[in-house]
Amino acid sequence: MSGIVGYVGKANAPEILVRGLRKLEPRSYDSAGMAITENGGITVVKTLGTIAALEKKARAQWAPDRARAAAAGIAHTRWATHGNPSEANAHPHLDASGKIALVHNGILENYRALRSFLESKGSRFVSETDTEVLAHLVGWFYTNDIFQAVSEALRRVIGAYGIAAVSALEPDHIVTAQCGSSVSIGIGVGGSIVASDTSVIAEHTQRIISLDDNEVAIVRVDDVEVRNLGGIPVSRTVPELDEVEEAVRKNGFAHFMLKEIHEQPESITDAIRGRIDFENATAVFSSMDAAPCKISELTRVVMLGCGTSRHAGLAGEYAFEELADIQTEVEQASEFRYRNPILDKHDFAIAISQSGETADTLAALREAKLKGAFVTSICNVVSSTLAREAGRGVYLRAGPEISVASTKAFTSQVIVLLLMALKLGRGRRLSRERGLELANAIASLPDIVRRTLPVNDVAKRIAQKIKDVEHIYFIGRGTMYPVALEGALKVKETSYIHAEGYQASEMRHGPIAMLAQGTPVIALACCDEAERDKMIINVEECRSRGAYIIGVINAGDTEAARHMDEFIEIPATHPLVAPIPAVIALQLLAYHLACLRNCEIDKPRSLSKSLTVE
Ligand code: G6P
Repeated sequence: MSGIVGYVGKANAPEILVRGLRKLEPRSYDSAGMAITENGGITVVKTLGTIAALEKKARAQWAPDRARAAAAGIAHTRWATHGNPSEANAHPHLDASGKIALVHNGILENYRALRSFLESKGSRFVSETDTEVLAHLVGWFYTNDIFQAVSEALRRVIGAYGIAAVSALEPDHIVTAQCGSSVSIGIGVGGSIVASDTSVIAEHTQRIISLDDNEVAIVRVDDVEVRNLGGIPVSRTVPELDEVEEAVRKNGFAHFMLKEIHEQPESITDAIRGRIDFENATAVFSSMDAAPCKISELTRVVMLGCGTSRHAGLAGEYAFEELADIQTEVEQASEFRYRNPILDKHDFAIAISQSGETADTLAALREAKLKGAFVTSICNVVSSTLAREAGRGVYLRAGPEISVASTKAFTSQVIVLLLMALKLGRGRRLSRERGLELANAIASLPDIVRRTLPVNDVAKRIAQKIKDVEHIYFIGRGTMYPVALEGALKVKETSYIHAEGYQASEMRHGPIAMLAQGTPVIALACCDEAERDKMIINVEECRSRGAYIIGVINAGDTEAARHMDEFIEIPATHPLVAPIPAVIALQLLAYHLACLRNCEIDKPRSLSKSLTVE
């Protein structure tokens, strides 16, 4: 089953097209291709075989800056009907002038007659396909109006089609049409997308319209015009994102934050997919293979990020030190940029950002690059500035995160960092056995998270008890310290309760003086037994000052439970991956606190999803 994707807009067109094709990948296909309008011409890349191969070709063809300048593009996965699977037969097909490109799903029954007619007029065909005939026919009718030419051509064909076409001379729009093979159109922010499958579009926008048979649409960056084959306008309103649609997007959840928390089994599955090499007990990140020196010669890892992304770095730091045996520093990007950091090609700088647009993180990346460090990025938003400027990196694949308070992006960031640490470790001294242990623990996370989400009810009940407090303290040791920081940040961001995260034993160096009768202390005691025992000592210190102790403990740990006033039980797992279920418990607690305090959960006051200013 062939598939179509088209894009016109300001983002990186080749990358959006590849991403769209990937969504179509479950359909059978034997070849793939894309065409991009640029500088008054059209560039086509095609491949027999996988989308991954096409992506490689596209990357080689369009460096990030050049891709950004591209205006419109169309792409296709082909399942051979007319002619063998081959690169020549793969779509897009060009017209005789090479200025029009077209992709097509369906079968044109009268293509032989049309081909003979066009050959008699001088057309030379390079493929055996019916689609190339249609491309030439459009070219035959073309007089600087691709919409007109497509309509003329389609009036002469018999058969089924869903098509998308672009003209090098009109790079500001795509023309799409359908008859018996559907196409839909999504109007997003700064770009529009056309696809044979709405799932490709839904990722970018919910403002979607579908065409009816014998309709042709002109799809521009921010609007769409639909007409019938005779050129008569068809009234079609593009839905606005009203509340009804928002509700649909929230999939029945009251808020995006809650929805995104619950999406974590899937977002984590996506973050892991194809990235674990069990045979070699390592992770697969081709971007890391580009280091200017051997992995074993890297001397330091420097992570750069802000807010939640920095916390993810802190959670990853342990794995880098423990597994890769490499000095690791996690820097506040906003400070790093104003220091005079000492870096060279043996430093591995990882810029972490959900949005990929945070100004401070970008500036820190530029500084690291300038100083000659080997840089990479971990971003969620595809084609974001950070991803492009780093030149290489890893995408989180967490899908759109709408809630300002980050949840699913955080867990995916931690997982990607753990996998990077695994790869780095295996390139150094980490044994296969220990590597495999972590690989298995990471692979088990979707299931662990599924089993963690039911703590929602307990979290809600506890939130009810502490919703009116002024201060909450989160304490953790080892890998649970970053979780304490992130839990406190979630509470501050969403419910405006003053909250702080501390290393548990640091409490006695000052913060403990803040504890009064009933002050909630959230104790992350879901660590290994030795750490848990030390945590109990810290807990008792707080309790003796009147604190109300809420433990996050491993399921069935009756010893830890004995020391808590309340507890949330999460599935026990490998200490390096334990931050994932632990933080989910805290995300839910923060969410319910915010709900009970009637806060604006998805868009908290004074905060922005991405801080593009310093
Ligand atoms: C803003 C957001 C935070 C986020 C931080 C970093 O401050 O409010 O939730 O953690 O930016 O964002 P990034 O997109 O770089 O991860």
